[in-house]
Amino acid sequence: MILSSASVVAFGASLLVVSAAGSPARGSSLSGANIKRDAALDDWISREEPTSYAGILANIGEAGERSYRADRGLLLASPSTVDPDYFYTWTRDSALTFKALVDRFFVTKDGILQIHINDYIAAQARLQPVSNPSGTLLPDGSGLGEPKFQPNGTAFTGSWGRPQRDGPALRATALITYGKWLLSNGHRDAAANNVWPIVANDLAYVAQYWNETGFDLWEEVRGSSFFTSAAQHRALVEGSSFAASIGSSCAACDSQAPKILCFLQTYWNGEYIVSNTNIGTGNSPRSGKDVNSILTTLTTFDPLSPTCSDITYQPCSHKALANHKVVTDAFRSLYALNANISVDAGVAVGRYPEDVYYGGNPWYLATLAAAEQLYLAHAQITRHATLSITSVDIAFWKALDAANAAEGTFPASSQTFTALTSALKAYADSYVAVAQKYTPEPYGALAEQFERSTGAPLSAKDLTWSYAAFLTTIAARDGELPGSWGAANISSVPPETCVGGGVAGTYTAPPTNLTWPDVVNCPVIDDLHVTFNVLTRTVVGQDIFVVGNVPALGNWNVDGAVKLQAMRYREADFPLWFGGVELARGQRVEYKYIRKDGGAGNESSVVWEDGANRVVEVQVQGPGCRDAIAVGDQW
Ligand SMILES: *[C@@H]1O[C@H](CO)[C@@H](O)[C@H](O)[C@H]1NC(C)=O
Ligand SMILES: *[C@@H]1O[C@H](CO)[C@@H](O)[C@H](O)[C@H]1NC(C)=O
Ligand SMILES: *[C@@H]1O[C@H](CO)[C@@H](O)[C@H](O)[C@H]1NC(C)=O
Ligand SMILES: *[C@@H]1O[C@H](CO)[C@@H](O)[C@H](O)[C@H]1NC(C)=O
Ligand SMILES: *[C@@H]1O[C@H](CO)[C@@H](O)[C@H](O)[C@H]1NC(C)=O
Ligand SMILES: *[C@@H]1O[C@H](CO)[C@@H](O)[C@H](O)[C@H]1NC(C)=O
Repeated sequence: MILSSASVVAFGASLLVVSAAGSPARGSSLSGANIKRDAALDDWISREEPTSYAGILANIGEAGERSYRADRGLLLASPSTVDPDYFYTWTRDSALTFKALVDRFFVTKDGILQIHINDYIAAQARLQPVSNPSGTLLPDGSGLGEPKFQPNGTAFTGSWGRPQRDGPALRATALITYGKWLLSNGHRDAAANNVWPIVANDLAYVAQYWNETGFDLWEEVRGSSFFTSAAQHRALVEGSSFAASIGSSCAACDSQAPKILCFLQTYWNGEYIVSNTNIGTGNSPRSGKDVNSILTTLTTFDPLSPTCSDITYQPCSHKALANHKVVTDAFRSLYALNANISVDAGVAVGRYPEDVYYGGNPWYLATLAAAEQLYLAHAQITRHATLSITSVDIAFWKALDAANAAEGTFPASSQTFTALTSALKAYADSYVAVAQKYTPEPYGALAEQFERSTGAPLSAKDLTWSYAAFLTTIAARDGELPGSWGAANISSVPPETCVGGGVAGTYTAPPTNLTWPDVVNCPVIDDLHVTFNVLTRTVVGQDIFVVGNVPALGNWNVDGAVKLQAMRYREADFPLWFGGVELARGQRVEYKYIRKDGGAGNESSVVWEDGANRVVEVQVQGPGCRDAIAVGDQW
């Protein structure tokens, strides 16, 4: 499926810090000389990359191929509508994915991607004031903690683990990243009028509620979550500087961020990060070992952090590396898939060892996160040109290279540095190789999980977050690093005794009549991706096709008709068949749906729908590179 004319990302071997200004700041170059690249893995990555990007775009409303009935700019967690039903837009998943897309935009300068980013921001402006079971926007911001919404932008009113307090923080970070780019590129009005009002609400929410419990990213445990606290800290730190850069301020950011930083230190138990704390009674006991903490290092990462700071849990920090070993080791003996894998090689990683969801299995995004932390750590250690190992993380390094690992500080010129950084990169690659092994060929679709004994894909299909995790992992592998958030300025050890906090904020409904500057690089695309959606009941053995008066639709010949998919067909109430084709812009196309019963070529089994031919105008409003439309029909 080709949804976009996105220029292919050029991956180089040099360390590229993708700054908001879009002018990459170059750090020290990875020599690459001692890194053995696995050609088979490289080949898979180059094929999986466009698949993952297209997989995300397909899940963005309104015209994404798998997103029929989602509003413009709203991103679905997955097109799966049954077992499980993920046909909703989650604030967390959307923010993490759009952060990845914004970083990608800095590299590709792709106009259609920028339109998607603008659409996402406009959609968040509409969502923030929607009253929901977590509360309202006015006057206390409580509604911002709602985890998910209907794909048409209305509230989800079923019971759920709510509130979830990471969403506003992650959304603020995604929007600030783009806001900085707008500022650096002369679009102050868009940064101040479109981005800041949404960000200001999210920052106010974080500053008000960070010291209250909420549900964690897996939506199961109410308490304090390391992932949430770290995302909140980062949001307030960069929120303060973003506010200043548009001539505003965030006093609550400045007063609360140091308190959250202090609180963050308390998740460390001396051996690893305890991902969930302040858990109420009634929850089943947990070790606290959780890929939550590994995912967190992808958010705490700052390319300009001058040291592998334990305070901000940088990916290369002693604590984060020690934790990486403890968490990933928890899965080594747990899954049959991981039997016989040596300690210096990556394994399939799940959420947490006590997990029972779908029987408790490895997840693609968890396994990829284990790789991504290591790539980021590699980039940091290489940039610092020094490797420090202490008693905290010696076990991590010993597992990779028992002969060379030792406590001490090793300059880039040393044999130890060369051997261990090389082992680190190979270790990271081995996690990606695990993901590769369990990704089905030939299409490379990424579901949520893969079964712990067979490796078969499981649970939600085409999970947006799985695709986003692949893209960020591969960007890190190739040295395309996200920009700085200001961790470099945090060097002081927080006070021994932490104090609680939270300050009441003020909230305002963001404007929804947003106007955007012209998008970059937006040529008129000749072909539009047109997705046909039709609700029609079928029985097993029947297939629905679309046929029409143009070659791409078979020129009214049933043998050339385009077969639709029933992936979102729901027995009781939503018999959807859908599929897309490329059609030249500007034409008026006539079409009909047909049903085939027998095998291919059985003319007698073809049933045509009654009535006049249907018509679609292959046109789209707005910038010329907007490249997809969808039609919705009923038969
Ligand atoms: C939005 O979607 C929900 C769930 O499908 C539906 O119940 C509701 O009627 C829709 N609301 C609007 C305004 O379309
Ligand atoms: C609130 O902050 C204090 C001080 O850091 C901490 O001891 C307490 O556990 C926090 N509670 C929650 C729910 O965040
Ligand atoms: C692990 O090794 C044992 C002993 O060699 C073997 O019997 C078993 O089949 C192996 N398991 C896997 C999953 O490779
Ligand atoms: C960090 O400190 C430097 C030097 O004082 C300053 O220029 C920069 O703006 C600060 N960055 C942030 C994000 O606060
Ligand atoms: C958007 O609406 C607000 C409030 O109605 C108005 O003040 C503002 O001028 C409008 N902006 C644009 C760009 O239309
Ligand atoms: C063609 O389809 C019809 C209707 O389903 C069926 O009765 C017939 O056996 C099929 N013929 C062949 C050759 O498959």
